[in-house]
Amino acid sequence: MSYQNILITKEGPIGIAQLNRPKVLNALNSETMIELVNAFEEFDKDQSVNVIILTGGQNVFAAGADLKEMAQATPVDLVLGRRFELWDRIRKISKPIIAAVSGYCLGGGNELAMNCDIIIASETATFGQPEVNVGIMPGAGGTQRLTRAVGKYRSMEMILTGKSISAEEALRIGLVNKIVPVESLMDEAKKIASEIASKPPISVRAAKEAIVRAQDTTLEVGLEFERRAFYLLFATEDGKEGMKAFLEKRKPVFKGK
Ligand code: HXC
Repeated sequence: MSYQNILITKEGPIGIAQLNRPKVLNALNSETMIELVNAFEEFDKDQSVNVIILTGGQNVFAAGADLKEMAQATPVDLVLGRRFELWDRIRKISKPIIAAVSGYCLGGGNELAMNCDIIIASETATFGQPEVNVGIMPGAGGTQRLTRAVGKYRSMEMILTGKSISAEEALRIGLVNKIVPVESLMDEAKKIASEIASKPPISVRAAKEAIVRAQDTTLEVGLEFERRAFYLLFATEDGKEGMKAFLEKRKPVFKGK
């Protein structure tokens, strides 16, 4: 598939999608979102890919939804455009997605990063939900995911003031996993991706699913979900091999089955 607004590469088991509309600070118009979701789904189907990295440029991850497109929209356009179904499709990607964020990560950009599973920030990254400044509010999960990530009070402050926070502040409040120098951002993301990619993919997938579930269910239902996923892994060859290799004091050889 060919894409106009994103760049796609593959490095071994890592699929990399890079937002590529630098002139408009990677503003997320519908076309870009469609391409991105299609690319994620392609990676999800591709058995040679185990982990996905999403990144932008050095100066900008994404400055939010494309305001040129949004400024014209009516509520009916938004309903009929089914824009948010795309975001729901990202939530259903079974492989881990690592966001490598440098520069502006705003509005829909921050919502996109929060749709990923791990967020690595460069020292220059800034995070914000500035929608109130333009008379709207987060609409792609910002009020929900930010609140789950950093709690009610910090989420209120960020969303109601529209002010951005630095990478350091984002790390302090638990919005990002790690901060690295700009020049090592992709190396760090790839290092974590490679580490995850070396694990049995069915374990990784089941664990991701259970963690995602933890975000939106009760403890009781979540524990039951975890237990069922746990049982399932005992039917995998990799599960048997991993435990056997440990007992035989050798390195496991995983097959992805
Ligand atoms: C469309 C955008 C854009 C955006 C920047 N541009 N952000 N175009 N949508 N979200 C364009 C500018 O119009 C400009 O185009 C070019 O990118 C460079 O931007 P400047 O503003 O000149 O750059 P700078 O002065 O460095 O300021 C950077 C910035 C500012 C602070 C990030 O661009 C900004 O505030 N952008 C809007 C951020 C925002 O409000 N995001 C939330 C959007 S609403 P020209 O043609 O003039 O060169 C949202 C809702 C999500 O995300 C809902 C779910 C989908």
